[in-house]
Amino acid sequence: MSKNRLEHLAIIMDGNGRWAKKRGLNRTKGHEAGAEVVRDITKFCALHDDIKTLTLYAFSTENWKRPQMEVNFLMKLIKRYLKKELPLYMENNIKFDTIGDLSSFSKDLIDEINRVKEATKNNSALTQILALNYGAQDEIVRAVNRVLKDNKEVTIENISNALDTPYSSIDLLIRTSGEVRVSNFLLWQIAYSEFYFTKTLWPDFTSKELEEIIQNYKNRERRFGGI
Ligand code: FPP
Repeated sequence: MSKNRLEHLAIIMDGNGRWAKKRGLNRTKGHEAGAEVVRDITKFCALHDDIKTLTLYAFSTENWKRPQMEVNFLMKLIKRYLKKELPLYMENNIKFDTIGDLSSFSKDLIDEINRVKEATKNNSALTQILALNYGAQDEIVRAVNRVLKDNKEVTIENISNALDTPYSSIDLLIRTSGEVRVSNFLLWQIAYSEFYFTKTLWPDFTSKELEEIIQNYKNRERRFGGI
C-alpha cells in the first residue's frame, strides 16, 4: 500500500448557508461560523508535517451573483478575518497569498490583502492561499493570453508558469456539504488530484475529520496515468 505525500491540499468550503438555515439563522451567520473553521483548519495544516500549501475557495467569480447584501458581508468578513488573523499567521509561521483577479475589490480590501502578504512573506511552515474572485477558466484564459503576449509557444509548461501562482499541483481536493462538483476551481491544477466529498457542512468541519480524510488519502494508490 502506498503512502502518498500530501503537499498541497485544496478545499471547496461549502454549506455555510445551509448550516445557518438549519438553525433558523441568517446566511451571514453561517459565513461567520465558516470563518472560524478557516482559522482552525489553517492552524492544523501549519502544524502538519507534510502539508506545505493550503488553497481555500473563499469567493468565486460567480459569487458576485449573490444578493448585494451577502456579497458586501463576505467582503467585510474577509477583511475582518485578515485583520484579526495576522497574529495567527505570525505565530504559526504561515505565509498568506491569493489567487484570482483582485482588481474588482475595494481599495480597502486590496490594501489589507497586500499588508498581510507583505507581513507574512518570509514565513515558511505553510502557505495559505485564498482564492478570491477566482475562476479557473478565467485564470487559464488570462494565462494563455500572457503566453501569447510574451510571444511564447503555447505549451503545458508555459501555461503552467503563467497561471496566477507558481504553486504545485493539487494532491487532494476536498469539498464539504455533499455537493459533488468542482465549480470552476483549479481546473488546471487538479489534473491528477485525488477527490474527497464529505456531507459535513463547512461550519461543522473539524480537524479531526480532516485527519481521517488524510488517512483515507494516504492509503489510496496514485498512478498518475501509469500502471
Ligand atoms: C459556501 O457556502 C461558501 C462560500 C460562498 C465562501 C466561503 C466563505 C467562508 C468560509 C467564510 C469566509 C472566508 C474567509 C476566508 C474569512 P454557501 O453560502 O454556498 O452555502 P450553501 O451552499 O449552503 O448556501
